[in-house]
Amino acid sequence: MGQNRAPRLQGDAMSERSSAVTLRHFDYIAARTAGEDDFLRRLKDEARAAGIPPIWIAPEQAALMQILLRAARAREVVEVGTLAGYSAICMARALPPDGRVRTIEVSEKHADFAESRIAASDVAERIEVHRGAGADVLPTFAANSADAAFLDADKASYQLYLRECLRIVRPAGLIMADNAFAFGQLFDDAPTDREALAVRAFNDYMATVRELQSIIIPIGDGLWVGVKL
Ligand SMILES: C[S@@+](CC[C@H](N)C(=O)[O-])C[C@H]1O[C@@H](n2cnc3c(N)ncnc32)[C@H](O)[C@@H]1O
Repeated sequence: MGQNRAPRLQGDAMSERSSAVTLRHFDYIAARTAGEDDFLRRLKDEARAAGIPPIWIAPEQAALMQILLRAARAREVVEVGTLAGYSAICMARALPPDGRVRTIEVSEKHADFAESRIAASDVAERIEVHRGAGADVLPTFAANSADAAFLDADKASYQLYLRECLRIVRPAGLIMADNAFAFGQLFDDAPTDREALAVRAFNDYMATVRELQSIIIPIGDGLWVGVKL
């Protein structure tokens, strides 16, 4: 950088620290992000009616993940945690026609529901639901067989899932992991969510992993995004 370059930052409002982000900013972002189509809205209504918990990703998080997948020219994606199939469908829509999402789900009820909605979706040919625990299914996937992975299941297993995904995802591929903000309880003295402590431990672990360049993006409940080095 040349010495004559004008200072980029001036004053407190443009310091090296990030601006504080409030819920108003998130509403602002959401209002400026292409939303869901009728199919996804209906999928969520039907999932709620079927007693499936509404813990899918937000539309603006889906948009960010789609942008990242497109930028990475991803064709093969692995997901742990299918739930109702919402994120799998969103990710599949960002892949080329011969792309594939292999999504892993331990709950038979969730897998049944997801399979029925995926079959009715525009990306049915691009999604496979693999039934079982992530810890059992991931080891069956070949090394370097994916361009990206998304972890969105039991937080206590994230470290194990990460190690597996570092094997499965190709160099320069993406590894994303949800809920880095521990369901909003990241800084609580006595978090009520039983997975919050596991999230904190995983966050600390991620910060030490040298095989990835990664950062938490403050969208949704905090999304880890890493590129495999
Ligand atoms: C947060 S939801 C996934 C949401 C989904 N990715 C979305 O945004 O549409 C977590 C899912 O992980 C599943 N799950 C929990 N433990 C699991 C495990 N050990 N292996 C695979 N799936 C698991 C749960 O049954 C649940 O359906």
